[in-house]
Amino acid sequence: MNSSNEISVGNVLGIETSCDETSVAIISNNNLLTNLISSQHFHSLYGGVVPELSSRAHLQIIIPLIKEALKKCGMKLNDINIVCATAGPGLIGALLVGLTFAKGLAYSLKIPFVPVNHIEGHIYSGFLMEEKPEFPFLVLVVSGGHTLLLLVHSFTEIKKLGTTVDDAAGEAFDKVAKMLGFSYPGGAKIQLAATKGDPNKIKFPVAELDHPYNFSFSGLKTSVLRYIQKNYPASKGGIPEKDLNDIAASFQKAVIKALIKNMEKSLCNFDVKSISLVGGVAANDPLRKAFIDLSNKYDKKLIIPRLEFCGDNAAMIAFRGLKLYEYGKRFELNYSPYPGLTEEHFT
Ligand code: KG4
Ligand code: ZN
Repeated sequence: MNSSNEISVGNVLGIETSCDETSVAIISNNNLLTNLISSQHFHSLYGGVVPELSSRAHLQIIIPLIKEALKKCGMKLNDINIVCATAGPGLIGALLVGLTFAKGLAYSLKIPFVPVNHIEGHIYSGFLMEEKPEFPFLVLVVSGGHTLLLLVHSFTEIKKLGTTVDDAAGEAFDKVAKMLGFSYPGGAKIQLAATKGDPNKIKFPVAELDHPYNFSFSGLKTSVLRYIQKNYPASKGGIPEKDLNDIAASFQKAVIKALIKNMEKSLCNFDVKSISLVGGVAANDPLRKAFIDLSNKYDKKLIIPRLEFCGDNAAMIAFRGLKLYEYGKRFELNYSPYPGLTEEHFT
């Protein structure tokens, strides 16, 4: 794994607290030993993530989770050589819990602290698999907050090709799920309903944009809303299950079509060794299948992380932090968390 400009680090602790998952991972001599994920399911009661409740839940669980991870690996805090934590994008209060904890640990143990960009964590999450991406590779990041198509040249060079101009793909899944009466997060529930529905029943629109690699999902979302309002007014007493499954299947088909369309364009225009699909929505089976078909059509190596590494997890944060450190990046303890991506993140 090491090349001449890298240095070797023993035990790496990763911490992820950007949204509604508290996660702790330990990588030892480039092997992932543990990746514990504690999900805050209670947000479904409120129809979305409540930031203040998220921060409090992270605070309650972070120390027990770190103790459990150390115990599983037969380690003590003193055995940790470097600590990495998500610095953004995410909910500021939630980020502060993990980041501040990591800084305190780094200060007390006199070890390096590495703040990690959550999206970069997802981008390189394919490297947590046995079969790894080969540079340069095209990666589609599809999460609850972001939809990004990127050309990744190395561990230090990422070029942004396109992004969403409105909703993220996961956000669209969650909003349509809400319209169909499913609780938050709704992506997996739409996928399940879609298995029983007809994807060709309703022709929902796929946005046509001037920019070749950008995405837009708000028109699709509104189109689903209008369809429901028109065909199932409140007076009619809800959507029959068969129709609901058809709406879910038709909506899912439109999202996948939009994602694959830009992915295919980029494959035609950039000569890459492999392609990758990452982020929470990468758990979607029909989307994974569409990527398999695409990789076969263009004869490209495909890396899609297993489910544990698609949603938010600390293994990807530990891995990304380790790479930054190996490539000579050093950070001060006054590093601040940030809620969103800015222009400086991907050029
Ligand atoms: O990456 P992630 O865990 O958190 C963020 O960083 O946002 O992504 C969460 C998103 C949610 O919008 C959720 O509904 C979606 O991933 N998701 C899915 C599936 N599983 C999770 N969307 C579609 N199909 C799925 N099977
Ligand atoms: Zn994420």
